[in-house]
Amino acid sequence: MKTLLLLLVSAAWTLTGAQLYYQGLMDYLENRLLAIEDRMQLWHDESHRYHTEMLDFKKLTAEVMEGLKSDHSSLFKDLEGAAVRVNRVEREMDYVEAQTAPRACANGADKVVEQDAWGLEESRGEEEEDEEWEELHSRVSDCVEILSGIRSVKIMKRVGSPKGMWTRDPRSSKVYVFNGTSGDAVLQFSSVRDFSRSVGVGGSGTIRLPSEWSGPGSAVYNGYLYYIKQDAGADVHVVKYDLLSGSVSDSAMFPLESQASVYSLNPETVADLAADDEGLWLLYASGDSEPNISLAKMDAATLDIEQIWDTRCPRENAEAAFVVCGTVYVVYNTRLASRSRVQCVFDVNDVVISEEAPLLYFPRRYGAHASLKYNPEERQLYGWDDGYQIIYRLTMKRKLLG
Ligand SMILES: *[C@@H]1O[C@H](CO)[C@@H](O)[C@H](O)[C@H]1NC(C)=O
Ligand SMILES: *[C@@H]1O[C@H](CO)[C@@H](O)[C@H](O)[C@H]1NC(C)=O
Repeated sequence: MKTLLLLLVSAAWTLTGAQLYYQGLMDYLENRLLAIEDRMQLWHDESHRYHTEMLDFKKLTAEVMEGLKSDHSSLFKDLEGAAVRVNRVEREMDYVEAQTAPRACANGADKVVEQDAWGLEESRGEEEEDEEWEELHSRVSDCVEILSGIRSVKIMKRVGSPKGMWTRDPRSSKVYVFNGTSGDAVLQFSSVRDFSRSVGVGGSGTIRLPSEWSGPGSAVYNGYLYYIKQDAGADVHVVKYDLLSGSVSDSAMFPLESQASVYSLNPETVADLAADDEGLWLLYASGDSEPNISLAKMDAATLDIEQIWDTRCPRENAEAAFVVCGTVYVVYNTRLASRSRVQCVFDVNDVVISEEAPLLYFPRRYGAHASLKYNPEERQLYGWDDGYQIIYRLTMKRKLLG
């Protein structure tokens, strides 16, 4: 009996122990479940957040895609436009190539057979030519520069007519403005700065010349104003006007075969005077049937003609020219103004050889130069481009003296 009781007690105790054990297990599992539930809630929240974010992202990409699509179509349209323009330019280039002379060509000093009218001696012998060549060579030894590039461009002002001319006297620094293509008035400014600051052309001094100038072919050089005067016939006169005393100090006549302009794109330029380190030059067309530009070296003091050359540079499609260090640079363009370029070079001393002759493009402006005047002191060009007064700074290199 005692043993049975003991057994019962021990069984009951064991039962209670098992119960306790199961209770503990249940608690544990419940806690775990709660924890898992919590975590699941967290995951759920998080996945919801991700989902929303993804939706937002999708919306964003859709928008970006939409934008890209429209960008693409506008790009495509631009591309088509560009292709059309390239085609047009190519056609223009073809036209230009067909129309104008070969690429930059340096021409030898071909002396024109002197005309009786110029009052020069008859043709000379070989030996004399050699002597003269030597003399010329030594004369230019201090001027050994060739144009190598256009360094910069500065648009100073826009005043006056689409065509005109402006220049600066290297000696006095005064600026002279020839508005239009003819007239007896010349505007004078004390400096380039004075000119660019002036309102219109007010407040400037106006010089009234005793006769009309024809075309933008004048030059101002060491206190003298040289201008072209045309009479009723084909002949032109070069008039030398003393700016200090305000009177004509000399004039010379140039008998020409027929009336012709020196540059076909600027028919108003009857003849073009140019001043450089070596003195005064005259670019002209000897007659309407003469296709090339002629060049004369003048004595700046007496207006005597010292020598004449055929530059072999065509007048056709030329718009202007300038002389640097005894070398003529002719600037060409197209009738529908595109890019001006130096496309023909002629050196009176035969020093600039073909390889050195630059094919120089002026900075991309769709204008046409009515005139280009070189200033030897500043190595600058004073250009008149469709009513804009522009300064081009030039870079030079040494001529390869043979
Ligand atoms: C320039 O000349 C044109 C005519 O060729 C004239 O109408 C204009 O008033 C002139 N401008 C100035 C600033 O003199
Ligand atoms: C004009 O120059 C070209 C070279 O550019 C030459 O072939 C032609 O003979 C010249 N014409 C005259 C009439 O001098």
